[in-house]
Amino acid sequence: MALGTFITFEGIDGSGKSSQARLLAEHLQVTGHDAMLTREPGGSEGAEEIRRLLVEGDPDRWSAETEILLFTAARRDHLEKTIEPALAAGKIVVSDRFADSTRVYQGAARAALRDVVDQLHDRMIGVEPDLTFIIDMDPTKALSRGLARQSGEDRFEDLGLGFQEKLRTGFLALAQDFPNRCHVIDGARDISVIAAQIAKITSDHLK
Ligand code: ADP
Ligand code: TYD
Repeated sequence: MALGTFITFEGIDGSGKSSQARLLAEHLQVTGHDAMLTREPGGSEGAEEIRRLLVEGDPDRWSAETEILLFTAARRDHLEKTIEPALAAGKIVVSDRFADSTRVYQGAARAALRDVVDQLHDRMIGVEPDLTFIIDMDPTKALSRGLARQSGEDRFEDLGLGFQEKLRTGFLALAQDFPNRCHVIDGARDISVIAAQIAKITSDHLK
């Protein structure tokens, strides 16, 4: 049984998830919680190696089916090596993306493979977050933020605006599927205003 709390951030590329995940982890740490920040794809040594296969290179490099397998392999390693030990030690784990990204990117936007994603998740992962923040915003704005970074990890951003629109719709539908844990957050506001809202929801959850 997990003793800690598992919190995830989801949303389209450039929505501000990574910034908000980092700010929440820092806020929890300075307010006396044993919190750690991690990310997907990645978050363990093996999963970071798989990440490079996924985020670099040609947009058509992998089929959606192969992507599901690679993301799930990375997630399983992340779960075994990082998330589960931390939760067992009673920590708060804040993850920049988790299984909802596979549900939306591979299950809905890139292909209609949600059944496959769900089956593989049940067999290989079987864990859901306690709390999920879906950072919602206009894809045009988010894309200009994301590409401005020029990180060399733009394989998914390179799929274009239509793809990001589908992702946004997919994340909003997901929030309705999992209303108990999902909070949709308006990401088009000042970074500190968003962080304060997220900190409030988290502290209410931890009470
Ligand atoms: P994501 O992880 O969703 O791709 P990031 O947190 O990396 O998003 O943010 C993408 C870019 O947008 C970064 O340059 C970041 O500094 C900037 N940014 C994040 N949140 C905001 C915000 N609320 N307003 C303006 N710029 C933001
Ligand atoms: P990330 O580093 O979070 O990118 P960004 O900061 O630009 O949002 O994730 C890398 C890419 O991998 C991102 O475009 C989303 C995609 N992704 C999936 O397609 N499926 C998944 O299961 C995960 C975790 C990420």
